[in-house]
Amino acid sequence: MLNPLNWLLAPFSLDIGIDLGTANTLVYIRNRGIVINEPSWVAIEKKSKKVLAIGSEAKEMAGRTPANIVAIRPLQDGVISEFDVTEAMLRYFIQKAHSRMLLAAPRPRVVVGIPSGVTEVEKRAVYQATISAGAREAFLIEEPMAAAVGAGLPVTEAVGSMAVDIGGGTTEVAVFSLGGIVVSRSLRIAGDEMDEDITNYARQKYNLLIGPRMAERVKMTIGSAHPLPEEKTMALRGRNLVTGLPDSVEVSSIEIREALSSSLSLIVEAVRDTLDETPPELISDLMEQGVCLAGGGALLQGIAERLSEETKMHCYAADEPMTCVARGAGQVLEDLDRLEMVLASLDRRSTVRPRRR
Ligand SMILES: Nc1ncnc2c1ncn2[C@@H]1O[C@H](COP(=O)(O)OP(=O)(O)OP(=O)(O)O)[C@@H](O)[C@H]1O
Ligand SMILES: [Mg+2]
Repeated sequence: MLNPLNWLLAPFSLDIGIDLGTANTLVYIRNRGIVINEPSWVAIEKKSKKVLAIGSEAKEMAGRTPANIVAIRPLQDGVISEFDVTEAMLRYFIQKAHSRMLLAAPRPRVVVGIPSGVTEVEKRAVYQATISAGAREAFLIEEPMAAAVGAGLPVTEAVGSMAVDIGGGTTEVAVFSLGGIVVSRSLRIAGDEMDEDITNYARQKYNLLIGPRMAERVKMTIGSAHPLPEEKTMALRGRNLVTGLPDSVEVSSIEIREALSSSLSLIVEAVRDTLDETPPELISDLMEQGVCLAGGGALLQGIAERLSEETKMHCYAADEPMTCVARGAGQVLEDLDRLEMVLASLDRRSTVRPRRR
């Protein structure tokens, strides 16, 4: 039965966790779960800079826009490359989440996941964008930490745990203990780079020009990091660069694995380097705890087997790996007293807006 007191108080406890990802933006609201999960795309009119569409609608427009409209991803390689557009996108998602509340709620408290290793200026940019997008209070959390909290790792305890978040723009590897990140690596090789690998492979081997969405579909359908129990094939459709005509080629999962191999080797190397730098006490904890994989890249077939084989650690995909960061960010607000230590430090003295790059 609905508790009348909860019902009355619900509007006053609107806490939001946001994963501001290169590929997807997710919004998590306490007691409601993930309420928004849309591509981080914005369509803009070139001259006036007017925002025409945000999220799925804007991604649909990509590659199909007339000359006066551009569809862009305001975050590149996990960092904000278009500040104003990012702010518009954040405002849209926060207001959309807020408007889903049944009753008028006060402005929300928001925790935003940011890539580890961003500069102080970039942190302030995200903070500022969140406040001007309508947050009552804003906090930042490094993405691998949020992923670890969302995956239920014991980050605040005196025991080592490890997460590898393979997103669209970046792969983040981190070892945690006592609420902090002990060792970490961030590399700009992740899902997008894998899509490019497939595009390059199709061009070089078959003279076939394929679009980014086709490349992503191939990766998700037959892409793999480890031999599959049953190898598969799929039709690659694009334009033949020699004849200039539409063309289709049958490719196998073995070929796609070959196309992904150098990016995957770099991800494996980053995990091994991080383990190399991890203090021995924590390594022994990790041998018990295993290594948790998050982000969309954790869904690549065979990635856990490949990493387990190459690191001699038990690597496993988190439950719902693509929502870990947003859920983790939101969970921090549910238990702020205990989890405040996991938030990223932020120098709030200056709120200078960074110049657009
Ligand atoms: N089944 C799948 N197999 C392989 N890759 C997948 C699968 N599902 C999603 N991906 C990839 O995961 C990536 C998106 O993951 P995610 O949403 O975690 O990224 P992000 O958080 O937006 O990016 P970042 O963390 O780098 O800012 C995309 O490159 C997408 O193609
Ligand atoms: Mg991410």
